[in-house]
Amino acid sequence: MTNNDLIKKAETVLNNNFKEDKGFTIPCEGLYPFQWNWDSGFIAVGFAHYDANKAKREVEALLSAQWENGFIPHIIFHNDSDTYFPGPEFHQSKLHPLASKSHRTTGMTQPPVLGFVLKEMYDIIEDKADILNFIKQNIDKVFNNHQHFYTHRDPNQEGLVFIYHNWESGTDNSPIWDDIWGTMDPPNYKFERRDTTHVDAAQRPTNREYDYYLHLIEIAKAHNYDEAKIAELSPFLVQDPLFNAMLIKSNAALIELYELIGDSEDKIKTLRQWQKKAITRFNEKLFNEKLGAYVHYDLRNEKQIEFLSSSSFAPIFADIPNEERAEIIVKTMMDKFGSEDRYLCASFDPSSDRFNPKKYWRGPVWINLNWLLFKGLKSYGFYDIANRVKDDSVQLIERYGFYEYFDSRKSVKENAGYGGNNFSWSAALLIDLLKC
Ligand code: SER
Repeated sequence: MTNNDLIKKAETVLNNNFKEDKGFTIPCEGLYPFQWNWDSGFIAVGFAHYDANKAKREVEALLSAQWENGFIPHIIFHNDSDTYFPGPEFHQSKLHPLASKSHRTTGMTQPPVLGFVLKEMYDIIEDKADILNFIKQNIDKVFNNHQHFYTHRDPNQEGLVFIYHNWESGTDNSPIWDDIWGTMDPPNYKFERRDTTHVDAAQRPTNREYDYYLHLIEIAKAHNYDEAKIAELSPFLVQDPLFNAMLIKSNAALIELYELIGDSEDKIKTLRQWQKKAITRFNEKLFNEKLGAYVHYDLRNEKQIEFLSSSSFAPIFADIPNEERAEIIVKTMMDKFGSEDRYLCASFDPSSDRFNPKKYWRGPVWINLNWLLFKGLKSYGFYDIANRVKDDSVQLIERYGFYEYFDSRKSVKENAGYGGNNFSWSAALLIDLLKC
């Protein structure tokens, strides 16, 4: 298939998932019938290449549900649907006094991609005056979101923000969380899974894992999603290298955009202060010498979580490691994840006994992580490895289709595209990869 054919197919996936009436894009039919936060950001990057209006509407639809305190939730329930659990009745976002009055949402967030997405849109869209005008109208909302993070998600004022739920990480059922589940003993909730009616249960989290996920939400709800209470009480409190790298990358993008806009010295000064503190602390606290990469930090139990995942390498996307440290983490990535019989980049350490090549974030390759690794590798001058990440991503989609995630083993003979099909961010980011 030519690149143009692939791009056309990707555009069809995105266009079919776009909901014209509300102006947002579902990640895929059935499995994810609402608007998801970081999905929307990646989707807007794809649209920016051929339909600037849709890209702008996508961002506006997400921001239309921003809370009065700057918080941007992880799911916006623009519409009703009975194909997903847990829906708006479970999440009850309105328990929080500053929750969106106009939209039902969740009370948790997702990796803060919007800052760097606005910058990508600026770089891609040809009508610079028009896109800069759009950015001017929206950039303060993203700034307020970052301010919210540093005010309410950083109890030690160290420049690193916490997540209180695995769904906030985006890497939902990563083995990283297994030891935290070991500290919890939630009830066996009665609920009806919907995801496993769309996708083989072997590719999704277990029912017992859902008990942990729901329990964390129940604790937050019992305190009306008050983040000070959550910081005090949640058994899950993690400083995630992927999440914090996204925030740092978005800070950097906001600085560049405010410079283009002009007359924004105060904001730029604040952003620079956040950046300095965040990058310094990130390197001190989240690097693991023994593993040769960044790791998660369990803030509740005050220790590093010593496992390698694709999140361990994400800091190269945000210019966090110095050159010497970048060499170390790229070597680790290639030694542990980069054998020739595998596609890059597995989401979890293939040599670990927790690795599962088919199960969601316990091993499969994800296109959004590959996209940011590709960009990061290129920016540090690792051109050959960057191109391998790009080629592997394109090959996986050509071989299997626009799936949600993929088996990293090249030897698998059956269909090794897993999860949802016609998945929006796989389509959106393929367009971007093929155009850069
Ligand atoms: N990805 C999650 C799910 O599987 C929610 O963000 O439902």
